[in-house]
Amino acid sequence: MSDHNAPNDGSTGHEWDGIRELTNKPPTWWAWGFYAGLTFVTCYYIIYPSTPMNNKVQAFVNGITGQEVFVHGHTKGIMGLLHINDYYEGENWTQAEIDNLKAKGYNELKIKAGDRKYLDAWTAVNEMRDDVHEIESVRAKYMEKVKTMTADEIIADDEMRQFVLGRTRVIFGDNCAACHQSGGQGVLNKTDPGNSFPNLTDDDWLFGGWTDKIIETITDGRQAEMPAKGGNEDLTSADIDKLATFIHDGLSTGDAVLNDDGELVKGADNPTFAAANELFQETCAACHSANGKGANLNGDYDTGSANFTDTIWRFGGSLATIKQTITEGRKSEMPTWGGRLDPTTIKMLAVRVHEFGGGQPKPADE
Ligand code: HEC
Ligand code: HEC
Repeated sequence: MSDHNAPNDGSTGHEWDGIRELTNKPPTWWAWGFYAGLTFVTCYYIIYPSTPMNNKVQAFVNGITGQEVFVHGHTKGIMGLLHINDYYEGENWTQAEIDNLKAKGYNELKIKAGDRKYLDAWTAVNEMRDDVHEIESVRAKYMEKVKTMTADEIIADDEMRQFVLGRTRVIFGDNCAACHQSGGQGVLNKTDPGNSFPNLTDDDWLFGGWTDKIIETITDGRQAEMPAKGGNEDLTSADIDKLATFIHDGLSTGDAVLNDDGELVKGADNPTFAAANELFQETCAACHSANGKGANLNGDYDTGSANFTDTIWRFGGSLATIKQTITEGRKSEMPTWGGRLDPTTIKMLAVRVHEFGGGQPKPADE
């Protein structure tokens, strides 16, 4: 219960069940916090747009959703009066746009031709619009330059190279990463080797790793086929075992080395290698080259046949997978992007692929 006593004891005289209300001043730190807060709010109110005054109803089209949004006017604040934004200055409503909105039923629109398109004040949205506008005008300048340069010129110019690498991260992610992974490292699918995708970051190329060839690969796509048994029906399973061992234990480890004429300069004393090399030169060398280094390294860049003398595998380098590749063959396709992506985008992607790390210089004889 509350009791009214003579307040001579530092209390207000109110007491509830033994709990008294004192007249102590609030702590100084608290009081300062309170005044600081009050000052901040007052300044904020003056500087930024605040009170909705319904003095003008404006419509603008939301650039992201494409929907028309109607916004009530409000006090402009100092920021608005000083015209801190400039992007919207350049964009005014045209009569055609207003007629168009009216035709859609927005008859109460109070805007007239020549009014600014966006709220005539500082707003966070206007500030963002300014920033985006600035970035886009910088970007447009770079893009104009990209159009006139070759991929090699872009690579040689560090600033342009950085710009293109930045611009293509998302484009590569959207179009290429599904197969080649976002870092371009590809996939070696152990359980389903036919469903592997080549690594674009190493210097092992099926179709050539300089910019002209990469552009050609992306624009026209590629179809490479390793025919079953290399196209030689007479190959027995014992022959295939020998060839697989030759590739697995010999060519890829360096225990067997072939010269450009297809002669074993190392490993000739191993009877399996010697016998396998006869089959190899007869059936496989036409595509994989007499030295086993694959077409790309031997000047025929378009068959896409693999190099056996490195330890990089397109489908997998286990003995079982090599046997399966020879027995059943492999067929794979890089899709065609010409027509889906414009030539400038393809050129920029070629720069990205080249700069993954494995890009080659253009050979002297090309
Ligand atoms: C549907 C899967 C798929 C997509 C998507 C794809 N690729 Fe490929 N790409 C492949 C396959 C498969 C190969 C190998 C072709 C072959 O061996 O016949 C390949 C090969 C390549 C090569 C040649 C590599 C070499 O060693 O010569 C380049 C370069 C390449 N792709 C770039 C790209 C770029 C850039 C994109 C995006 C615009 C892309 N790819 C999208 C599947 C794909
Ligand atoms: C008509 C051309 C052609 C002939 C002949 C040919 N190959 Fe191939 N081979 C290819 C191509 C092209 C590829 C790569 C396929 C791809 O990337 O889609 C390939 C890939 C391979 C691979 C997979 C290598 C890896 O990195 O995973 C092996 C193994 C292979 N060939 C072995 C042989 C053997 C052994 C012979 C002979 C019996 C032979 N090839 C004959 C064209 C040929």
